[in-house]
Amino acid sequence: MPTKRSVKDEARELRLYEDVAERVEGLIVDGTLRPGDRIPSVRGLHRKWSVSVSTVLEAYRRLEDRGLVEARPKSGYYVRAAPRLLPDEPESSNPPKRARRIRGSMAYRLMAEVTKPDLVKLGAAMPHPDLLPLKALDRLLAAAMRDEPASSHGYMVDSGYPPLRKEIARRMVDAGCTLAPEGVVVTNGAQEAVYLALRALTRPGDTVVVESPAYYGLLETLEVLELKALAARTHPREGVDLDALEEILASTDVAAVALVTNFSNPLGSVMPDAKKRALARLLDDYEVPLVEDDIYGELPYEGPRPTAVKAFDRGDRVVYCSSFSKTISPGVRIGWCAPGRYLERIAHLKLVTNTSSPSAPQLAIARFLSGGAYDRHLRRLRATYRDNVGRMTALIASTFPVGTRATRPAGGHLLWIEMPRGVDSMRLYESAARQKISIAPGPMFSANGRYVNCMRLNAGLPWSPRLEDAIGTLGRLAHRQL
Ligand SMILES: Cc1ncc(COP(=O)(O)O)c(C=O)c1O
Repeated sequence: MPTKRSVKDEARELRLYEDVAERVEGLIVDGTLRPGDRIPSVRGLHRKWSVSVSTVLEAYRRLEDRGLVEARPKSGYYVRAAPRLLPDEPESSNPPKRARRIRGSMAYRLMAEVTKPDLVKLGAAMPHPDLLPLKALDRLLAAAMRDEPASSHGYMVDSGYPPLRKEIARRMVDAGCTLAPEGVVVTNGAQEAVYLALRALTRPGDTVVVESPAYYGLLETLEVLELKALAARTHPREGVDLDALEEILASTDVAAVALVTNFSNPLGSVMPDAKKRALARLLDDYEVPLVEDDIYGELPYEGPRPTAVKAFDRGDRVVYCSSFSKTISPGVRIGWCAPGRYLERIAHLKLVTNTSSPSAPQLAIARFLSGGAYDRHLRRLRATYRDNVGRMTALIASTFPVGTRATRPAGGHLLWIEMPRGVDSMRLYESAARQKISIAPGPMFSANGRYVNCMRLNAGLPWSPRLEDAIGTLGRLAHRQL
C-alpha cells in the first residue's frame, strides 16, 4: 500500500497557509486594517496565532499575489494604498461523486461564433488578433517559405522540426522541467496533445478525473473517446483538492487525471508548488498518469511563470501538453507534448493520425522563439490581460446583481462568474446573443449540467467602449432574470 501520510501532512499545511491568509484578508475587508496600515509583523503573528514563521510568510506572499498587501524593504507588510474593490470569490466546487459519460455540448456553436465579425467575443477563450504578434509571424512565415522551401513544404515526421523542439525544451526550463528536445512531440495545438495523451493512456469506458468546473474541450475529448469524467472538488485559486482526489484514487479505478494546472480554464486557479509536489507524489503512489495541460502557464500577471507538475514528476508519469494558441496564434495550430514514459506510443499515434504538424509554422515559430521577440511580446500581453481582467472585474462588481462572485486569476485571460441562483446562463447566452455578445455558459464546463448560474468570460480582447458596454449589458440582462 502506498504511504500517504506525507501527502496528507502537506495538504494540511496548505490549508493552514490559506487559513492565515484568509483571516488577515478578513481584517482588511472589514476595515480593521486600512490602506497604508502595517499588518502584524511575521514574528508577531507567529507568536499570537501559534503558527510557524514560514506559514505566516507563505500566507503574506499569498496576500501579496492577491494585490491586497505589499512588502516594503526592511519595514514589513502594508495594506496596499488602493486594494481593489472586488466581488467575492466563488467557493470550492462540490461535484457529485459519480463518473459520467459526457453528453454532446454546445462547444461547436461557441467555436463557430469566433468567425462572426460583429460579435463582442466574450465566449470562446480566444485572444483577439490585435493582441497577437501577427506581423512578425507573417514575416517569419514568408521567410521560411522563401528560404527553406524543401523543409517548409515537406513533412516533419520525426515528431517535429528539431530546432523548434529544442526551443520548446529550452523554454520548459522556466517551468522547472529538464527535457531533451527528443522528448518533445510537436502537435496540432494543445487540443491534439491532450487527445493523443488520452488515447495513449485509456480505453473506452475508463474513468478520468477532471476539475470541476472543467474546460469543455477536455470534456468533449472524453466524450469522443467514450471515457467517463469523474469531477473532483476544486478550489478557485488552488485547483483540485488533493484530499478529494485521494479519496477518488483510493476507491475508484482511475485510468488518468487530466488537469489545467496553471491559470486554469475556466477558474484561473494555480496549484502552489507544494501542492504540485504532493500531487506528483500521490499519482506516483497510485501509479496513475497525469495529463497536464499548461496552455496558460506563460501568462502570469507578475513574476516568473509558475512551475509545472512535470517538474516534480519522479515517476515520469506526467504527459505535459501546451501550445502557442494563447500567446502567438491559435490558427497556426502549433502545440506540443512532453510525454515522459509514454513517448513512443504518443509519437506513433501522432504519426498515424496526421503524419506531422504543418511545417512552415514550425520553422517560423522556432525563429520567433530564438530571438528576444517572444519574451518582449509576452510582457506586453501579460500586462494587457492583467489590466483587462482587473477592469472587467471592477465593472462586474458595479453592474451585476448583488451576490455575484468572480474569480481572481493571477494570470491568463479568463474570468469565471457565479451569479445569484435564479440567473440561468443558458437564457443569458440567448439574450446576450441577440445583443451581439457571446458568453460561455456554465453548464458547458460540467459533465452533469451544473453551474447553471455561472459563465466564463474571455478578457483577451482590446479594451474598448463597446466592450465596456457589453459587460454592462450582461449585468442588466442578469438583473432582469431575477
Ligand atoms: C485549457 C485549454 N486546453 C486546450 C485548448 C486548445 O488549445 P489549442 O488551440 O492549442 O488546441 C484550450 C483553448 O481554449 C484551452 O483553454
